[in-house]
Amino acid sequence: MEPAVIAIMERSLNAGGSAYHIVMTEEDLSSSYPGMKRYTVRLSSEGRTLGLVRTNSYEYPPSTSLRARDVAAETTTRWEEHLLRDPDTFLSSLPPIPATGRRILPKRGVVIIQGSPRPGGNCALLASWAADAARQRGEEATVHFPHDLDIHPCIGCYQCYNTGTCIFDDDMAAIIEDVSRSRLVVVCSPVYTNSVPAGLKALIDRFQALHAERTFSAETGTGKGLLLAVAGRQGSQNFRCVKAVAGAFFSLLGITPANPILIDGMDQKGDLNSFPDVREQVRTSVNECLIEG
Ligand SMILES: Cc1cc2nc3c(=O)[nH]c(=O)nc-3n(C[C@H](O)[C@H](O)[C@H](O)COP(=O)(O)O)c2cc1C
Repeated sequence: MEPAVIAIMERSLNAGGSAYHIVMTEEDLSSSYPGMKRYTVRLSSEGRTLGLVRTNSYEYPPSTSLRARDVAAETTTRWEEHLLRDPDTFLSSLPPIPATGRRILPKRGVVIIQGSPRPGGNCALLASWAADAARQRGEEATVHFPHDLDIHPCIGCYQCYNTGTCIFDDDMAAIIEDVSRSRLVVVCSPVYTNSVPAGLKALIDRFQALHAERTFSAETGTGKGLLLAVAGRQGSQNFRCVKAVAGAFFSLLGITPANPILIDGMDQKGDLNSFPDVREQVRTSVNECLIEG
């Protein structure tokens, strides 16, 4: 559902022989985060947006006296005063307008996130089997290795909810682009201390930016998601956290989860090679996701 937008302040003024309109709006993003409000200040002239800034209530910790609504209202007043005083200088000082929302393009291909830092291990096998299955169906398959990439951990600044993009300029932009366009996302993860390895968790957390971007667009679901996980110990309880993390990741992006494939008792590199039926299971599951997706 699109967030409700209400106008809080509006100013119409003439400066330097042109008519301008400044409006400050408030959106309720509680469906993303409890109580989150986003404020936008937009300057336009003859229907064209000349300036736009956003701020949101999650940017300001309760320990400061700053509040998003006050910051936006202060910006509105400051813009009005500056525009009236010196329009040329003001207009040339405006920050670039954030480009929110990517073009909605047809979904294609399979993205595989190989979350184990161990080269040639069990997840590497799962990832290669998933890629083979996708390619046999004529789908493009791209494998990303979070541990080999430059992925800064999310710092929870929530500025992505203002711009739709992360403040960090690293390898995540390409991964987000691939995932947002894919028909199927396969997450391969070993169990590390009951959860997912650090590099994979960093990648997952950074998808907050795509979730934020989705608050600017009407796009709903984005394909299917499949978890392939291995654990050294025996027992399905070892996958509890990994399933929860992958489930939260898929849910954040509106991805429909398929039944995961979870293999316990796999500790040594290549242990999985002794279980040819798992390869077949992966192929069947990838096929089903692509037929349904
Ligand atoms: C740092 C570390 C932590 C691990 N923690 C667990 C664990 O909590 N539970 C478990 O069943 N296996 C654990 N394992 C074992 C791995 O899940 C297992 O070796 C798996 O096959 C590794 O996958 P890979 O070959 O794709 O790297 C751990 C391994 C490492 C290196």
